[in-house]
Amino acid sequence: MPLLPFTRPQIDEETIAGVAEVLRSGWITSGPQVKAFEAALSALCGGRAVRTFNSGTAALEVALRLAGIGPGDEVITTPLSWVATANVVLEVGARPVFVDVDSRTRNIDLNEIEKTISPATRAVIPVDLAGLPVDRDRLYSLARAKKLRVIEDAAQSFGANWRGKALGSFGDLVAFSFHANKNVTCAEGGALVLPDEHLVPLCEKLRLQGVARSGEDGMEVDVLGGKWNLTDVAARIGLGQLPHLGAFTERRRALAKRYFALWDRSLGCELPPEDFAQSNWHMFQIALPSRVERSSFMKKMRDEGIGVGVHYPAMHMFKLYRRLGWREGQFPQAERLGRSLATLPLFPAMADDDVDRVCAAAKKVLS
Ligand SMILES: Cc1ncc(COP(=O)(O)O)c(C=O)c1O
Repeated sequence: MPLLPFTRPQIDEETIAGVAEVLRSGWITSGPQVKAFEAALSALCGGRAVRTFNSGTAALEVALRLAGIGPGDEVITTPLSWVATANVVLEVGARPVFVDVDSRTRNIDLNEIEKTISPATRAVIPVDLAGLPVDRDRLYSLARAKKLRVIEDAAQSFGANWRGKALGSFGDLVAFSFHANKNVTCAEGGALVLPDEHLVPLCEKLRLQGVARSGEDGMEVDVLGGKWNLTDVAARIGLGQLPHLGAFTERRRALAKRYFALWDRSLGCELPPEDFAQSNWHMFQIALPSRVERSSFMKKMRDEGIGVGVHYPAMHMFKLYRRLGWREGQFPQAERLGRSLATLPLFPAMADDDVDRVCAAAKKVLS
């Protein structure tokens, strides 16, 4: 049996041919495909302005810069995320302030945010881990009450919704990732949804060296920008993915349902919340019981032909963050989940009996 990976992108033949066309066209960096991709993303986000980037990380960093966050400012976020979430805060010279996660949702514990707010707090970066949306009603009512900006790290939750409203179609700044493992991919890429059309010119300048062009030959630079534009090659992949978004999400939900139907509850693992309405099921993560060492579980599963992923160790325990003063023991839930979460295979091209195989292998390994 070939190894069943924990995820695999699904690119159709029309997209592959479309990429070849872009490569032959004579224009391979940002151009008409990027414009078309941004228009298609905007349509999915209620017509709001969307600009693309060469990564979700770049989209998050530009969001922070657009919100005016810099040295002296604090930004509240979760320690249980890909380290990009907090790295971007450091990149703009601000300080990330971590808050533990809710053990059930594995997302930032909204009850804990208020007590960490200081006079320097300027923003919150919620993360929809595995595609399960953070409670947007509570989040935004807190942000409004405390006058905080919200930069939604929706890197994993493209295609998810809150009470029927697509993520990105409402709220403050919303950043998506189109990294190879995401539900919709450009190979590498990202997008930022802007809460206000007036932010577009500055967003575009921050994306590309601060350059503003005018007339036939005018060029001016009045702000320091990065080099974060998406290529037309990548945008063409993304454009080919978008028509499948609904079907991809449906298939992921069906596979997740099958995991719940077949998983042996006596194994002592914690399963994710059973949300089949809002989550995009970017990942299916179990928390292993404390008696099980994750590395040995992963190795034994690999021997059974099943790939298992790690998303993610609690980031305040990384050396970089320890040097900034964070310590083990500060966020017990994130630390426990960071050690015990195991990402099982879930991607649209999986067959139903692949789920059966994973459940049987896990039962064998954990029994
Ligand atoms: C939660 C989270 N935030 C940010 C990122 C960064 O996105 P990218 O890898 O596209 O830079 C990712 C993607 O891996 C992510 O999962």
